[in-house]
Amino acid sequence: MLTIVICVGSSCYVRGSDKVAEVFERLIQQENLSDRVELTGAFCMEHCSMGVSVRVGDVVYGEVYPEDAESFFYNEVVSRLKQGVR
Ligand code: FES
Repeated sequence: MLTIVICVGSSCYVRGSDKVAEVFERLIQQENLSDRVELTGAFCMEHCSMGVSVRVGDVVYGEVYPEDAESFFYNEVVSRLKQGVR
């Protein structure tokens, strides 16, 4: 199971973390990944100036905006699952 954590702290929230979560949720359904990917939220990851912060496995990414969320998901999540990397 690959865990994706989206920061829902205030500074990431104002940059659209809830929208990023919606995009990820939609893509998880669309790609049938609900048994391979777990989506969760966390408060402040201490990279507020670089929000929206998203952690995939143990890698933290910054500046994941709603409009980039779909390509981020394919590049960082789906590709990682294909490689079998966790
Ligand atoms: S509010 Fe998201 S990293 Fe601080």
